[in-house]
Amino acid sequence: MTPNATTTETASTRRAPAAPGALPLLGHGPALLRRPLDFLCSLPAAGPVVRIRLGGLPAYVVNDADLVRSVLVGEAGRFDQGVLIEKVRPLLGSGVGTADGAEHRRLRRLMQPAFHKARIARYAAAMTAVAAERSIAWQPGRTLRFDEEMNELALITVARALFSSDLGADAIIEVQRSLPLILDEIPRRAMLPDALLRLPTPANRRFDRAVRRLRSATRHVVEAARADGTDHGDLLSVLLLAEDEATGERLTDDQVHDQLVNMLVAGTETTGATLAWTFHELARNPTVEHRLHQETDEVLSGRPAVFEDIPRLPYTLRVVQEALRRYAPWIILRLSPGEVLLGDVRIPAGATVLFSPYVLHHQPELYPDPLAFDPDRWLPERAAKLPKGASIPFGAGSRQCPGNVFALTQAVIQVATIAARWRLHPAQGPRIRELARGAVVHPTALPMRCLPREHSYAQEGDRSPSTV
Ligand code: HEM
Repeated sequence: MTPNATTTETASTRRAPAAPGALPLLGHGPALLRRPLDFLCSLPAAGPVVRIRLGGLPAYVVNDADLVRSVLVGEAGRFDQGVLIEKVRPLLGSGVGTADGAEHRRLRRLMQPAFHKARIARYAAAMTAVAAERSIAWQPGRTLRFDEEMNELALITVARALFSSDLGADAIIEVQRSLPLILDEIPRRAMLPDALLRLPTPANRRFDRAVRRLRSATRHVVEAARADGTDHGDLLSVLLLAEDEATGERLTDDQVHDQLVNMLVAGTETTGATLAWTFHELARNPTVEHRLHQETDEVLSGRPAVFEDIPRLPYTLRVVQEALRRYAPWIILRLSPGEVLLGDVRIPAGATVLFSPYVLHHQPELYPDPLAFDPDRWLPERAAKLPKGASIPFGAGSRQCPGNVFALTQAVIQVATIAARWRLHPAQGPRIRELARGAVVHPTALPMRCLPREHSYAQEGDRSPSTV
């Protein structure tokens, strides 16, 4: 089913039903801000397309896998980026994440070679090295803030894949310093009116300073790499050398720089949260953990995983796929450029359209017992029965995540490398909850204790593999 360009309401079309629970004046804004996952998960009961009110304006929530696919893939490119993207334009510049239409297609074409299989195989060396270096420094019995540790691991991995040569050494240090601060601030900025963002408050000044420092460090490394002219096999080299097949055009330094910042922002907390949730679920599901350990022991015998190991780690891949299902991005926004028809529901021109991979991935008709962590959902014969569009952790269509293979490769290599040596055991603390921040579902603080694998089962006698 594809959205039609122009429609008027007829006997066969209708307005979307309004979602219940709107407050006078405030509409559904408070519900979406205060308990976004519960609120969005309640909407499929009201219909496949539901009207909500945000800041006085209507927005349309699409709850049906087939219709979500229409938005993403049907007449690809018809829907533009949502209004929120304007809030992060000072950070992302004219990168692929903010562009629309022909410019978006051009940037995607130029970026494509950076994610070819041969290139991913080269970045994999950084994925292995970062996981091995970080995890070797953990102390047996020590408790880590595992959510933060995984975000940092993801950040360093993307930064090293971007800049592998010495030219990038200073930029990596700056990325580590300023990017976490920037990522923390983005959700707050998305919610505030522009006028407040321009006030010289300490938070705004900190954010502006961090953006300036990050942009200056990456700009410097782009200039140095352009002058150096060598292909270092990293993402930066690919972007500098990329040539549009149709026009012969290349990216300017500014454009290369903006793509780099887009990738740093898009590729850090997404992968970091996936890694953190994976170890959280392994700790809660001893049977799954035991099967994963059997596989990593057999293939790796305690050594770090490398790219060539991936085909021999199918269970690890299914564990990662299940973490991506269970904790998928919770919101994607679009803007309807003209009047369109979704199913029999008419969406007016200029309306905000939103949907949630997280909500789709928790629909019991698609995924029975959706809260259960069951990696075998991804056995090929079971996965083949899922309808098209039911699994969209990376989105779909013209804006599908270009880093999807990068992220899967990274997650398999890093989960296997860590699990070959360590068990992560939940430390005492408040119950772990799901927190929707940015577009990502994060765990609230996730303290975990590091137990070396050789000893871990003996120390945790009640959870030995033979008792699970
Ligand atoms: C588990 C990890 C990841 C998840 C779940 C994820 C998810 C997504 C999703 C859902 C989108 C599409 C948003 C939309 O339709 O508006 C997206 C876009 C994007 N992602 Fe990822 N991503 C991940 C990792 C990465 C990595 C590692 C990189 C780069 C190294 C990356 C770079 C990008 C970029 C540049 C875009 C914008 C594409 C465009 O607008 O055309 N992502 N990601």
